[in-house]
Parts: sequence; structure tokens; C-alpha cells
Amino acid sequence: MNTDLFGDPVANGKPTNALGRRDHLTFRGNVALGRHGWLRLTPAYSLRLVQELLKHSGPDEFVLEPFSGTGTTPLACASLGIRCHAVDINPFLVWLGNLKLMRFDDAAARAVKSAAARIADNAREPDAAAWKPDLHQIEKWWDAPTLHALAALCDGIRNPSRERADHVRDLLSVAFCRVMIQSANVSFGHQSMSFKKKGDDVGLVEETPARIAARLADAFVTAAGEVADSLSVEPPVTDCRVFLGDSRDLPTVLSASGAKYTAVITSPPYPNRMSYIRELRPYMYWLGYLSDGRAAGELDWRAIGGTWGCATSMLNTWTPNGHGEIPFQHFDRIIHDIGQGHALLGRYVHKYFEDIKGHILGLKQLLVPGARCHYIVGNSKFYETMLPVEGIYAALFEDAGFVDVSVETIRKRTSKKELYEFIVHAHTAKTSKRKPQTADAASRNGH
Ligand SMILES: C[S@@+](CC[C@H](N)C(=O)[O-])C[C@H]1O[C@@H](n2cnc3c(N)ncnc32)[C@H](O)[C@@H]1O
Repeated sequence: MNTDLFGDPVANGKPTNALGRRDHLTFRGNVALGRHGWLRLTPAYSLRLVQELLKHSGPDEFVLEPFSGTGTTPLACASLGIRCHAVDINPFLVWLGNLKLMRFDDAAARAVKSAAARIADNAREPDAAAWKPDLHQIEKWWDAPTLHALAALCDGIRNPSRERADHVRDLLSVAFCRVMIQSANVSFGHQSMSFKKKGDDVGLVEETPARIAARLADAFVTAAGEVADSLSVEPPVTDCRVFLGDSRDLPTVLSASGAKYTAVITSPPYPNRMSYIRELRPYMYWLGYLSDGRAAGELDWRAIGGTWGCATSMLNTWTPNGHGEIPFQHFDRIIHDIGQGHALLGRYVHKYFEDIKGHILGLKQLLVPGARCHYIVGNSKFYETMLPVEGIYAALFEDAGFVDVSVETIRKRTSKKELYEFIVHAHTAKTSKRKPQTADAASRNGH
């Protein structure tokens, strides 16, 4: 019987277990795994998958993760003693990733717990005038008493009554984010977040504002304790780092590091119109990484695959110009068919692959000969047109001069029945294409 990377049976390249969903390959498998479980953010992928791909890493391994997200890859590397550089375009995720990669002593955990207890005590009688973020329709996210209680906790973190180390404030912010999102009127049952409908929380009794403030203060102390306790679970043993930048131009982002990488392990955004900025808005507004809708849309426009807010109108006037043709048979027909359903979507998919093509061309300059790349991607369907994302990635790698390119199906996704996740594997050639010098030529060149 054929098996895949995880020892699970496959037939015709697809997992054969009945559901085929294999939740251990998604974020669900990450919860409660020390720092990996801090926040349940939609971009995260499976820690186990990354660990499998790192199983044979030797001492010279230097991993690049160009779409870091919640930092699963760099944190897995750091805990295993493998060097890793990561990149993300979202400053909130860069902050979170680098915080996960920090080494803390026991004193940090103690400081987080005692500061949390003080902040919670002061937040039991919230001041309605405390700062709140300018998030569009914030009242849809939290009712007024909950919002005041959150604002009091946030104020206690931002404006401490006595001096506090930056890393303690940052760890408290993670605890705050947990309480903030747990108390929001949203559900994450689907691929993206949605507001709960009235009546979803059947059974909740009406609470007084004081009771709500006390409940949130207690939840904050609990969350801070969990964050503090997680610091000693598989902590980083090697220095790894997340860089802020655009992975469509990696040589510029990583120029100062001068590093060459032996492996790339990543899950880029999928062409499915999911906007990470939209999903991460509550975190980004509360922590000060966003302060208005225009900036949110502009960041989404720079993110590959983003189409939210003003990014949608920018896409309306976008024309292909970047890196020439997409070298996949029938690509133009696929774009045409998708565009028949909705012109904007055709442009969306075209731009997505132009961005990925630029990314792959820049990436190649940073890899050693014989480097391996593993891209976890999902296919998409627009109206009746299937978008073979994995095949187009494979074609882009081959066109850029990568060798041994292959596609492995790893799991079925929850939504439509034709949707799967794949790993696209590719390598840089082992030796450079230059002919070996003859002895004569070598002596002429002074070797
Ligand atoms: C699927 S998520 C990565 C998930 C990650 N593997 C994890 O476990 O959290 C894709 C990430 O790509 C980032 N991204 C999108 N466009 C980018 C760009 N142009 N440059 C760098 N990062 C980008 C997004 O911010 C998002 O965090």
C-alpha cells in the first residue's frame, strides 16, 4: 500500500481515509502546544507537518519561511535547534512571531502573572473613558460593558502604574488578545470569521456590567497564567527571526542578512479571496497596528491574494504587467472562464499568480544548490472553473529552473468536495550548469 509523508494510506495520490480531512494537518492540531497555541489565527498551518518536513535536517540546515503568518515554521525550527529566517508583510504577525521566538527565564513568567493580577484588580471597575480602537462598527464586535472592560485591561497593559519590561508587556498583550477574541461576538466555525447571529449563545443570562468586568478580569488572569506557563514548553534553543517585508522581493528584504538557505517550508496565501487583514483586524486595531480602514485596505493590497476594502477597487484597474506569461497550459483559458463569471475574479487570479511568479524568481537567488522547497497550497474553484493551483505552482517552479518538481496531495479541505491541500516540492539544481574546467583551463585561470 502507498503511504504519504505521515504514513497514512493514499491511492491515486489522494488520502484514502473516509473523511480525508486530517485535522492534525491544520491549526486545530496546534492548540495547547505551548507558544504555538497562543492565538487561534486563521493563517496557521500544522506544526506536525512542519516537524515532518524537518525530520532529516542536519546541522547545516538553514530554513527560509517567506510567509511566516503565526510563525509556525520558525518556532518549530527554533525549538529543534535549526536556523530559520521568516518574512511576513503584516507587522502584527511579525511582532507575534518574534515574541514566540524569544528566550525567557522563569522570572519572566513570574512577572507576567503578578502584573496580570494587578491589571485585573484595577479593571474590575472600568473607566468608560478609557481608549478604544477605531474599529468600524465596533459595537457589532462587543457590547458596551464588554468593550469598557476590555478597554480597562488594555489601558492597564499600555499605561502601567510602575515600570515594566517590554517583553512582559508583550506577553500580557497576547493574554489580552485571547480574552478580547473569546469575548467577541464572532464565530470561527468556517474558514473565515463571521458575526454570531442573535440567539447563538442560548442560555447566557443577562449580566450586569460589574459582573462582566469581573468575568473578563478573571479570564485575563487565567490567560496570562497559560501564556506564562507555556514559555517552558519546547522553548527556542536557536536564534531565529521574522523580518517585516514583501516576499515578492525577497532579495531586498533579506539583503542585510546575507544568508543562503538550504530549505524553504511555507504555506503561502491561497487564491481563495480570504483576507488575512480582515480576519486579523481586531488584534491589529487593539494592539495599534491599524488605525483606519484605508490603511487596512492598502496593506491587503500589498498582501498576495488580498482583495478587501480599497484593495478591491485597486484590482479593478490592475492589468498584467509584472513578470510576463504564466507558463501553464490553458492558463489564459482558465482566467478567461473565471472572468466570464466575474471580471474582477479573473483579474484576481491572474494577479495572484503574477505575484507568486515574482516571488519564486526572487527566492531562487537566495538558495544554495540542492536546496529543497515545500509549498503547502490549496486549489480553488470559481463558479464551475477549477483552478489547479498546485499544477500552476509546479509549472512556475519548473519555469524558474527548479528541478525534481512534484506534487503530493495531503488532505481534503472542509468545504467543497473537489478542494484539497497539496505539497508542491521543488529543488534547486545540485551543481551549477557551468562546464567543469579542464586542467589546462584551470591552470590558465591561475588555479
Ligand atoms: C497561509 S498564511 C501563512 C501561515 C503560516 N504558515 C502559519 O502557520 O501561520 C500566509 C501569510 O502570508 C502573508 N503574506 C501575504 N502576502 C505577503 C507578501 N507579499 N509578503 C510577505 N508575506 C505575505 C500573510 O500576511 C499571511 O500571514
